[in-house]
Amino acid sequence: MYGNEKILGRAIKRCNVPREELFITSKVYTPDRGYERTKFAIEDSLKNLQLDYIDLMLIHEPYREGTEMYKALEEAVEEGKIKSIGISNYNKNEYLDLLEHCNVVPAVNQVEAHVFYSRKELQKVLEAHGTVMEAWSPLAAGKNNIFTNKVLVEIGKKYNKTSAQIALKYLLSRNMVIIPKSSNLDRLRQNIDLFDFELNKEDIEKIGTLEKGESLFGWYD
Ligand SMILES: NC(=O)c1ccc[n+]([C@@H]2O[C@H](COP(=O)([O-])OP(=O)(O)OC[C@H]3O[C@@H](n4cnc5c(N)ncnc54)[C@H](OP(=O)(O)O)[C@@H]3O)[C@@H](O)[C@H]2O)c1
Repeated sequence: MYGNEKILGRAIKRCNVPREELFITSKVYTPDRGYERTKFAIEDSLKNLQLDYIDLMLIHEPYREGTEMYKALEEAVEEGKIKSIGISNYNKNEYLDLLEHCNVVPAVNQVEAHVFYSRKELQKVLEAHGTVMEAWSPLAAGKNNIFTNKVLVEIGKKYNKTSAQIALKYLLSRNMVIIPKSSNLDRLRQNIDLFDFELNKEDIEKIGTLEKGESLFGWYD
């Protein structure tokens, strides 16, 4: 979907990091709708990435053919080609419907989640069935002036952290997996440097007031 598997495959080969220390995610999407096409897409991803296995393979969104696609992913787990199956952009009902038709509970549901839209109700349902919520655009892709937000900046001063770090830490405190994106080395480092402090209950409640309760990207539940 992002056209980056081949270049990533070459980078993995050259980086000299043992395979087990890397966690590689890819996904099947619109052209892969259907059982056979998903089977083919998994082989194609493995070839592009030059890997024997992929750690996590997602279904990009709830397609009509989602159940068949999921079955192909389950078989790939049995064959050792992928370690875990995830879904993406499933709302509560779509997720519960999938559970009725699958054998393996999805490891994650990757959905839009950030300080302005933190999906408490969805997360509760996912966790009740053993699925972790993974936040895409965890920095709201910079929308709503998140990087200069007063609440985040003020809390950041207390811990000597940036507003971005406070926004990400909030999601971690709420037991989410986060995948912030940066093309800048300093900001990449910043986005990993989150594990030497804890937000207290009062901070978490203050950040909770930023909640707007709706998608910033036009996704509807
Ligand atoms: N499953 C889906 O449907 C779906 C949908 C959307 C996104 N995603 C995935 O989610 C991941 C992240 O999403 P995203 O890129 O949309 O949004 P994001 O991670 O919330 O925000 C990225 C933006 O924030 C900036 N940034 C990053 N770290 C920063 C920091 N510490 N301080 C200030 N600015 C910072 C980046 O600029 P610089 O690069 O200049 O640092 C970039 O403009 C991506 O891997 C994307 O593929 C998945």
